[in-house]
Amino acid sequence: MNFILEFFVDLITLILKINWYFLEVVFQLIIAPPRKSVEGQVVLVTGAGHGIGRVMARKFAEQKARVVIWDINEAGNSRTAKEIQTIGGEVHAYTVDVSKKEKVYDAAARVKKDVGKVDILVNNAGILIGELLLELTDNQIQRVMDINVMAHFWTIRAFLPDMISNKSGHVVTISSASGYFGKNFLVDYTASKFAVTGLDEALEVELIKNYNSPNVQQTIVHPFVIQTGLVHGFTSRFMPIVDEDYAGETIVDGILRNKRKIFIPKDLRLSIIVKYIFPHKSYLAIADFFKSETCSQGKQD
Ligand SMILES: NC(=O)c1ccc[n+]([C@@H]2O[C@H](COP(=O)([O-])OP(=O)(O)OC[C@H]3O[C@@H](n4cnc5c(N)ncnc54)[C@H](O)[C@@H]3O)[C@@H](O)[C@H]2O)c1
Repeated sequence: MNFILEFFVDLITLILKINWYFLEVVFQLIIAPPRKSVEGQVVLVTGAGHGIGRVMARKFAEQKARVVIWDINEAGNSRTAKEIQTIGGEVHAYTVDVSKKEKVYDAAARVKKDVGKVDILVNNAGILIGELLLELTDNQIQRVMDINVMAHFWTIRAFLPDMISNKSGHVVTISSASGYFGKNFLVDYTASKFAVTGLDEALEVELIKNYNSPNVQQTIVHPFVIQTGLVHGFTSRFMPIVDEDYAGETIVDGILRNKRKIFIPKDLRLSIIVKYIFPHKSYLAIADFFKSETCSQGKQD
């Protein structure tokens, strides 16, 4: 009897919660949640030496955060640092290969000593090779996984414990539309982005279930194509190529508003609904109708 009562109480609670969360989303569409202040907070962006990483680092500096930038490319990272210094921001640049676990742990220790505990971690560094699975070398596949996936584990393991003990922090995962959809020439890349999407989702559950409301925020970002040079030969009937400034601004704005998921462009969310609701073959036919194509980097001029 108790079991039945408990079941119905749980069911009614669930229905009320679902309704509340729907209302919350509708309300937030009308009135966006306020931006949090990151003034004086330590924000670490990986892969900040180019593309959206550079834009995000600059935007956080504009918000008066103490920005830490990591990149394997020292020259690119220095350029980002100079841009931030030009606008009067605080920046600490480190040359780090995030695919190397020991380098990550070593750099993390140096950041904690030089700058302090990290409040917001943006796992952004990523590579895309753009070749057919059978044309890739084993080393290329390994490198994609090491940078796009394993690096997230090393940085999270380095910085999350401080966030949990402070009961405050934010872990940002730059995934991709490829974290939901498979695409030509992107088998390795897609697998890597599905992996970090799973990491982000399971981490949320783990934090809730095991760490007594740690109040660590999470944001996952799923951009389609951004004009940074990462994706080659992209064409599409409908999907736009987004400018990197717009993408960086959208992501930082979403992080400051503690958005859980960010899709760029926003309508990408609809394709996900189609994917999971429509029969698989019709989803493939719809994807084909969009005529969204990338091409092999090897076939570029
Ligand atoms: N550009 C797009 O169309 C697009 C779309 C969806 C998702 N994304 C994702 O956004 C993120 C940033 O992409 P982007 O377009 O700005 O790329 P980008 O190539 O312009 O910049 C990536 C940066 O990461 C750095 N990096 C690469 N390997 C590294 C390593 N081992 N250690 C440290 N730094 C390293 C590079 O030096 C570079 O500065 C990536 O994770 C990418 O997968 C990009």
